Amino acid sequence: MEKVRVALIGAGGMANSVHYPSLVKFEDVDLVGLCDLVEDKLNATADKFGIERRYTDYRRMLEETQPQAVYVLMPPHHLFDLAIYVLEAKLHLFIEKPPGVTTEHTRQMALSAERSGVLAMVGFNRRYIPLLNKCKEMVSERGEMLHCVATFYKHHFAGAYYKGAVDILTSDCIHAVDTLRWMAGADVTDVVGDVRYLCEETYANSFNALMRFDNDCSGVLLGNWCVGKRVHTFEMHARGISAFVDCNSVAHVYRDNQEEGVTLSATEVAGSDENRVFYGFEAQSRHFIDCIKTGAEPSSSMQDAVKTMELVDAIYQTTL
Ligand SMILES: NC(=O)c1ccc[n+]([C@@H]2O[C@H](COP(=O)([O-])OP(=O)(O)OC[C@H]3O[C@@H](n4cnc5c(N)ncnc54)[C@H](O)[C@@H]3O)[C@@H](O)[C@H]2O)c1
Repeated sequence: MEKVRVALIGAGGMANSVHYPSLVKFEDVDLVGLCDLVEDKLNATADKFGIERRYTDYRRMLEETQPQAVYVLMPPHHLFDLAIYVLEAKLHLFIEKPPGVTTEHTRQMALSAERSGVLAMVGFNRRYIPLLNKCKEMVSERGEMLHCVATFYKHHFAGAYYKGAVDILTSDCIHAVDTLRWMAGADVTDVVGDVRYLCEETYANSFNALMRFDNDCSGVLLGNWCVGKRVHTFEMHARGISAFVDCNSVAHVYRDNQEEGVTLSATEVAGSDENRVFYGFEAQSRHFIDCIKTGAEPSSSMQDAVKTMELVDAIYQTTL
């Protein structure tokens, strides 16, 4: 079997908890090298995933290991130069969300990927959650999506992310924004935002929006970072059917005014109680590798991520 040669930059939290544990399980992937600036993290991570070739200079790693694809896993304000370097070297690129700090960063990465004829994918992992996919499939059997809702609540009083380098909507609540676009399966035509500074004067922490998609679906975003606890849920509605989904636990699907719905468990649908599997990270990497093998465009391509970043901008620009 021909293996896809993947090089890795970053030995941090997401790399160790979800991405490398997924990649190392794929028989058709060869992890050809790992790079991190911090040698202790580099060696601990390389040992954990059995990666022989270790580097503190990613340029040297790419030259010596000749990969086809590169994961660049680091905070968004450290990412841009490395991502562009990878794309200009004509290598497929995977990055985490958010895809840069500004929409222009995302657009420039998308253009660079196009110029080089390679794939660039963003880790909007909610799109790959098995439970959410199952529910979308069930709802879509009744026709076009009519209405979708994404809520994202957190108990967070520590300011904007990375000491203020990135605002909360762009950095984290963007998951809910991207998932709304994916659930509706269409482009946004109109949006009204309501971004607020609640109990805090120095950074925005409440993000709400009402939007209309070009298939006539309505979308609702409810986000708040100063409330009781992390709760992150989704709703999808089509004619005569409704799905209420908590991707960490269960979904309830109701049809035709029947009191009794169908209850689906996140771990049962995924066939695993490992978070990296039932929360979509494994399927996300599988999708990236399959796209490399087939040449298909990833669902969460950099080109598509530009639209999600533009929607984030529109939520700010139209705020009440
Ligand atoms: N999808 C999700 O649900 C989810 C959840 C949490 C975080 N994230 C995203 O994941 C991304 C990564 O976050 P993290 O917490 O894993 O990061 P991290 O800070 O834990 O790790 C980043 C690593 O990159 C290394 N690094 C930085 N610059 C480097 C360079 N030039 N060359 C080599 N190594 C370098 C650092 O030494 C560090 O080890 C962020 O964008 C974050 O928003 C996504």
